[in-house]
Formats: sequence, C-alpha cells, structure tokens
Amino acid sequence: AHELGSNHRMAGKRVVVTAGGTREPLDPVRYLTNHSSGKMGYAIAQAAQRAGADVTLIAANTVLPAPKGVKVVHIQTARELLKNVQAAFEAADVLIMAAAVADYRPAEVADQKIKKTAQNETMTLKLVRNPDILKTVGASKRPGQLVIGFAAETTDLITNAEKKVKSKHLDLIVANDVSNQKIGFNSDNNQVTFLFADGSQEKTPLESKPKVAEALIAIISQKL
Ligand code: CTP
Ligand code: CA
Repeated sequence: AHELGSNHRMAGKRVVVTAGGTREPLDPVRYLTNHSSGKMGYAIAQAAQRAGADVTLIAANTVLPAPKGVKVVHIQTARELLKNVQAAFEAADVLIMAAAVADYRPAEVADQKIKKTAQNETMTLKLVRNPDILKTVGASKRPGQLVIGFAAETTDLITNAEKKVKSKHLDLIVANDVSNQKIGFNSDNNQVTFLFADGSQEKTPLESKPKVAEALIAIISQKL
C-alpha cells in the first residue's frame, strides 16, 4: 500500500537514480549545460534509501551533499552518464532518470581556449546529438526491471510526456512543467503528473521535492 511509515518496501532492491545536468565541454574553460540543480534526483535517491533500497546515485555536476547511505558517482557529460548508467543498470531493479541530459554537444572540443577575433562579430557552434540514455538502456530492459523517466516541458505537458513514455519504452514518466518558476528546475518545490505506460495518470499537489520523491517511491515500490 501507500503508507509512508512502512520503511522496508524496497528492501533488497537495487535502484539507480540520475540527477543534475550534464556539461558538454567546448574548450578547456567553457561548456554547455542547463538549469538542473539535481534536487529532485537527490530527493528520490534519499527516499529510495529510506525505503530500504540499495541506491546508486549518478550525479552530473551537482553541488549538493550526498544523501545518507547512498553511493554517489560523479560524472560530467552525457556520454559519461550513459557509460555509468549502463554499468549500474545491469544489476538494477529500477532506473530513475531525473538527470537533465544535454541533447547535443559541441561537435569538436578545442584543446586550447577559443579566442575571439577582431573580424568575427558572430560565431556559429556546430553541435552533434548525444545518445538517448533512456532509449538505449530501455531497449535492453529485462522482465521485472522498471525504467522511469522525467519529461521536462514548457508546452503541451501531457501530450509530450505521453509520447516519451511510448518512444522510450518506459513504465512511468514524471511530467514536469518547467515553464513555471515555482516548480521544476532549481526550485525546492514541485508539482508533477505521473503518467503510466497504460495511459493512466496521477497528478500530485504542489509540495516539497522530498514529498514528491516519497510519492514516486511509494508508486514504484507497489509495482516491484
Ligand atoms: N534523456 C536521456 N538521454 C538523453 C536525453 C534525455 O536519457 N539524451 C532522458 C531524461 O533524463 C528524461 C527523459 O529522457 O528522463 C526525457 O527527457 P526530455 O529532455 O524531457 O526529453 P527528450 O527525449 O530529450 O526530448 P526533448 O528534449 O526534445 O523534448
Ligand atoms: Ca531533452
């Protein structure tokens, strides 16, 4: 059931959580990134640990204190995240991808700092696609393994999130309206809609990220 008091709902389960925003280097002093703070992913890792799970948190460029009892692996780029998620997912029961992964990275990383030049008033960066980690890992999912994603949207939240559940073969997606400053990126609070593979939905109230994390872990532990 949903009781938050029962603390062993995930005992013996291996949970992998990703958090933060990847950094894609351009030269030795610059990178492309996004506004993710990692707070939501850290709260999820802590909630899973409290529920008795063995938790690995793969963190992209976060400055948050490690959640108690959680193994934290720090990475920078989307490609490093992919490698670490693949390695950890092998023996995992659950993967929760809360990280904000850069969809593109600079096509080339300069060895030296890129200098501006007097004649160039504009500059064009060439970007190439990063691997889709959820899609890659979801394709190798074994029966019984649960894969959960987040959908960060500024428009058409539910429609876009529904497309992602299907295209990434997810069991559940957490739809997050990031156009609202009170929720989502960097905020301490969040309000989300859980969207399941079968099309059913559950909207959470506006509450703290630790509360949203508890609700998510309660739902996942029922499905395990
Ligand atoms: N994700 C991923 N690998 C990527 C990009 C995203 O695993 N290269 C994951 C995110 O961690 C998140 C989910 O996919 O759990 C959805 O991310 P989002 O950025 O909302 O969707 P995209 O599929 O990247 O589509 P778009 O940004 O174009 O809306
Ligand atoms: Ca994206």
